[in-house]
Amino acid sequence: MRQAIRFVVGLVLGLALLTWITSVLVQRTTRNWFERDTSLRALLVVSGARQALSSHWREGQSRELRSILTEITRDERIMAASACNADSSLLASTADFPPKFSCRELAKHVRSSPDASIESWSAWHQPDSLPGGSVLVSAIPVLDGEQPLGFVVLVHDLSYAERREARTRQFVLIAFGFLAVAASVITLLVARLSWRSWSDEIHRLARGEAPKQPEFRPILRDVRELVDRIMVEKETEMEGGAWTPQRLKLTLKRHLQGEKVVIVANREPYVHERQADESIRVLHPASGLVTALEPVMRACSGVWIAHGGGSADRETADRNGRIRVPPGEESYFVRRVWLSKEEESGYYYGFSNEGLWPLCHMAHARPVFRSEDWRHYQTVNERFADAVCEEVDSDDPIVLVQDYHFALVPRLIRERLPRATVMMFWHIPWPNSERLGICPWRKEILEGMLGSSIIGFHTQIHCNNFIDSVDRFLEARIDREQNAVVQQGRPTLVRPYPISLEWPVHWLIGGPSPEECRSSIFADLGLKPDALLGVGVDRLDYTKGVEERFLAVESLLERHPMFRGRFTFVQLAAPSRTLIERYRQLNESVEQVAARINERFGQGTYRPIILLRSHHEPPTVFRYYRAADVCYVSSLHDGMNLVAKEFVAARDDERGVLVLSQFTGAARELTEALVVNPYDIEEASSALATALNMSREEQRERMRSMRAFLAEFNVYRWAGRMLVDAARLRRRERLTGRLAEHLVESTSS
Ligand code: F6P
Repeated sequence: MRQAIRFVVGLVLGLALLTWITSVLVQRTTRNWFERDTSLRALLVVSGARQALSSHWREGQSRELRSILTEITRDERIMAASACNADSSLLASTADFPPKFSCRELAKHVRSSPDASIESWSAWHQPDSLPGGSVLVSAIPVLDGEQPLGFVVLVHDLSYAERREARTRQFVLIAFGFLAVAASVITLLVARLSWRSWSDEIHRLARGEAPKQPEFRPILRDVRELVDRIMVEKETEMEGGAWTPQRLKLTLKRHLQGEKVVIVANREPYVHERQADESIRVLHPASGLVTALEPVMRACSGVWIAHGGGSADRETADRNGRIRVPPGEESYFVRRVWLSKEEESGYYYGFSNEGLWPLCHMAHARPVFRSEDWRHYQTVNERFADAVCEEVDSDDPIVLVQDYHFALVPRLIRERLPRATVMMFWHIPWPNSERLGICPWRKEILEGMLGSSIIGFHTQIHCNNFIDSVDRFLEARIDREQNAVVQQGRPTLVRPYPISLEWPVHWLIGGPSPEECRSSIFADLGLKPDALLGVGVDRLDYTKGVEERFLAVESLLERHPMFRGRFTFVQLAAPSRTLIERYRQLNESVEQVAARINERFGQGTYRPIILLRSHHEPPTVFRYYRAADVCYVSSLHDGMNLVAKEFVAARDDERGVLVLSQFTGAARELTEALVVNPYDIEEASSALATALNMSREEQRERMRSMRAFLAEFNVYRWAGRMLVDAARLRRRERLTGRLAEHLVESTSS
């Protein structure tokens, strides 16, 4: 309505200006007409009286001439007349002829040159004014054959023209005034009616009814989306508080209409292994990815597509490779993809773990890239993308692609399901662009990943490295403000989402107390009651810095003899990727370093390092965490490292100290840990000594603060934030898509 009023004010002002211009134009035009008419009449009058005028003129009969002039002025529009001789003297004039118009003055205009030839004489008309109003003065030559006798001057009254002009102006003003009022009233009326119809439609929308007028439908659909979005954002704001499985489920429902979540990850959350006694055992693999994502799947339900690598996986799945999990409390599906030995060797051991893994980690292992492995990597990525298409139940599913095993999957899904929302999370570091240049297929890898709607890394540094890599190797627009890569108008957001744990960790619920854990572990390891226990939990991987860790223990014992015979470090080492030579070497060297240190500082049954090289199920791992005085995470390079977070989560007694490598993503969040450079063996051993001497109060303070952080920044928040961002992007894409549809419709119609 305010806009309509603004429009009306503009309209009135515009019309006023138009009226003024029109009246000026009308006045000028009519004045011209009147003057032309009057001049013409003057010529007619003089030519009508020419005979009489010239005969009296020749005779110089001024009295007779005056009577003719008086006769001429009987015309109500001719006020006065005079007759001027050729020599510019006055011959005769009517009684009230204004002296202003002298014969001498006017002669200049009638005669263009002083000679007496007829060519130099012509009629002349000029508007002028007298005290009574405006007049037109006409001076018209009178000829006697070829001889000019003089000229007649007629003064015409033009006041009637002024009166007519005033009336015309008045009329124009009234007409335009009427027009302005009518236009304003009509505008306001139309605005009011449209507003009413708009508000009726919006009320209808608010009441959840369908709009009546079809042309409102697209707009109202957008309004509805907007209302929805505002409501969702308000609700999310109001929800506040801790992130829980329920809140994650609610978020999925509200923001993504409860869509089924499809996860693609190489490692499955439950592996079925046939044991020596022929029984089948369900194992939980040692994988940060599984630790983080399994609780998310339990909360959201859906399908987890993974490589079926367990020896009893085929016989426990149905003929489509599906199995409901977790065992006993089934809430989602695992869809197993079967790989041949060659595929597994080329895609998993070869390209993923001999190529990409050392490429992304700064841990001094040389990446190996073989064309054969790359071919398998491509084929297996295709197989997983096909499996996604088989598992989804709409053309716009939400797919979470995990890790470096599937860099090509996002684009392959995008080609098959263009409307899918694909989020890729890269669980390991992303190298700088120079290092990425080592990979012969860097472009294909980047292109593949950019099929995603969102790409997530643990830290901003890895996001920056990724964007720089795209900038260096691809033709794509980088939107630095949005942290996005735009290709063919489609954006891929690049965001840091530091991964975390479920909170509380379900393995702890109903489990033994820290005291019980300590006494049972001490008994298992044959430790004295006053012993001090350090713990390390890792897959046996060269990026984890296990050798450096053992060297720090050696240095501790060397530099602080008080811990000799008292401090024991137990390393739970899950064998990993053992078909790869570098991992085999690591197994040997770790064993040798441990043996050497044990040799050097061992006494009787005391061994400073206990290396337990086997897979340990989570309940066992948590017993060790709860029993230990110190946990040392010494990764040489790590995306996040969830062992550090698990140790903190395990310590509900607020005891124990975390010594943490500065090269983990976790070190950015768990700042109350003793953060060390694992390559600096002395610094690390001093940190171990500080940890073992730390007062209970300080332990409590540090632990409390880290636990509060993990309680808030848990994995439900991690997943929730990604899903909310995806939902926002999805809405934006739908709106843009719809806008494009409208445009196509309107241009084609
Ligand atoms: O933490 C990095 C990571 O690659 C995970 O993504 C993966 O699940 C884990 O290490 C274990 O590796 P793998 O699956 O090769 O045993």
